[in-house]
Amino acid sequence: MHIEAIGRHLACIEPLARWHHGEWGALYDDWTLEAATAELRDHATRTTLPTTLVLSEDDALLGSVSLLIEDAPALQDRGSPWLGSLFVPPEARGRGYGKILVDAAVAHAAHEGVALLRLFTLWHEDFYASLGWQLEERTSLHGTPVVIMSIRPAQRVAHTGAPSDAAWTPHD
Ligand SMILES: CC(C)(COP(=O)(O)OP(=O)(O)OC[C@H]1O[C@@H](n2cnc3c(N)ncnc32)[C@H](O)[C@@H]1OP(=O)(O)O)[C@@H](O)C(=O)NCCC(=O)NCCS
Repeated sequence: MHIEAIGRHLACIEPLARWHHGEWGALYDDWTLEAATAELRDHATRTTLPTTLVLSEDDALLGSVSLLIEDAPALQDRGSPWLGSLFVPPEARGRGYGKILVDAAVAHAAHEGVALLRLFTLWHEDFYASLGWQLEERTSLHGTPVVIMSIRPAQRVAHTGAPSDAAWTPHD
């Protein structure tokens, strides 16, 4: 099992964009499938932010997570950057991959010198809280209640240790 920058997984861009757009397209104005695909193509050009990490085993795509400069425009006044687009395909859920991806994104943010990382979530406050994220604010996005949470990446890595090298190669 490996976590790598999406630049090493160009074939994943189209399936990931379809998943992401299907899951969150309704939350954003003007975020078409083409826009989701273009974002991931852009992320594939760098490992610095904004970028996307991909979890895979052999040829199987097990999920992805993004580190974004801007997520929802309506929440941009809260600060930057954001963890977003965490996705594990339905058939792979419940095996710890979501947790691995979040911790890997936090470790990558620490490596990139991010002092405070935020996210917003509709349903998964408890999931993120179990991974060390703190509640910042309850608000709404297009009328949908959301929770804004944050974490200090360097503190989290100091607490949990960095992911093992075997599963972790996004930096080179
Ligand atoms: C959220 C998501 C990434 C979780 O992925 P996953 O691989 O199933 O999660 P994990 O197996 O790593 O779960 C880790 C732990 O969190 C728990 N957990 C998962 N979802 C949870 C939730 N909604 N609330 C509370 N706990 C949750 C699991 O039971 C597990 O607990 P355990 O370690 O005690 O067994 C996945 O369900 C998904 O892709 N959902 C659709 C997209 C989405 O909602 N993304 C999040 C946007 S904020």
